[in-house]
Amino acid sequence: MIFTVAIDGPAAAGKGTVGRAVAAHFGFAHLDTGLLYRAVGALVLKGSEPVAAARGLAPEALEQPGLRSPEVARAASEVAVIPQVRAALLEFQRGFARREGGAVLDGRDIGTVICPSAEVKLFVTASAEARAGRRLAELLEAGHDASFDSVLADVKARDARDSERAAAPLRPAEDAFLLDTSDLDAAQAVSAAVARVAAALGR
Ligand code: DC
Repeated sequence: MIFTVAIDGPAAAGKGTVGRAVAAHFGFAHLDTGLLYRAVGALVLKGSEPVAAARGLAPEALEQPGLRSPEVARAASEVAVIPQVRAALLEFQRGFARREGGAVLDGRDIGTVICPSAEVKLFVTASAEARAGRRLAELLEAGHDASFDSVLADVKARDARDSERAAAPLRPAEDAFLLDTSDLDAAQAVSAAVARVAAALGR
């Protein structure tokens, strides 16, 4: 069976949590496409040229430690504005989406650019304050030093860069189901998403 679930939305809205849980529930493969941009960003921080880094990206690069750091997130958001970087990562994502057995991809442009004919499209969002609060908790948990105000400023700067760029800006696909997680806990967000996918599968 070929079945694609496209999940888009801003940073720290819960896409990853929802994506992983939906994939586990239905036995689908899951790709966090932000990791592709983070891996390119990490290479650029080490001195690589962005387009060459994207073209030569090896799957093992997605496993490297440190991809979740704020510095790498910022570098990812900067390389993500470059059309040739996006183009270099396109085929890998499309191939993943159409693999046998079902796939969940989360990112910014999955429902709009990568998989416009995905069987299910979800746009997972939340207020900037709710997202900053979650991101701060994650950073502190991982042993990074951060304050709410700096994380909120970072979230807003990334939102602006992701939404205002010319190449594949962050926006909901016209046929996406909007899931606002500001007042939901993870279990509630996951069950709303699972229900949507189950309906599309006719289960
Ligand atoms: O989801 P994330 O925070 O790991 O994404 C890191 C950056 O990568 C984000 O600022 C924008 C970019 N990105 C993108 O442009 N397109 C995607 N499909 C996924 C991420």
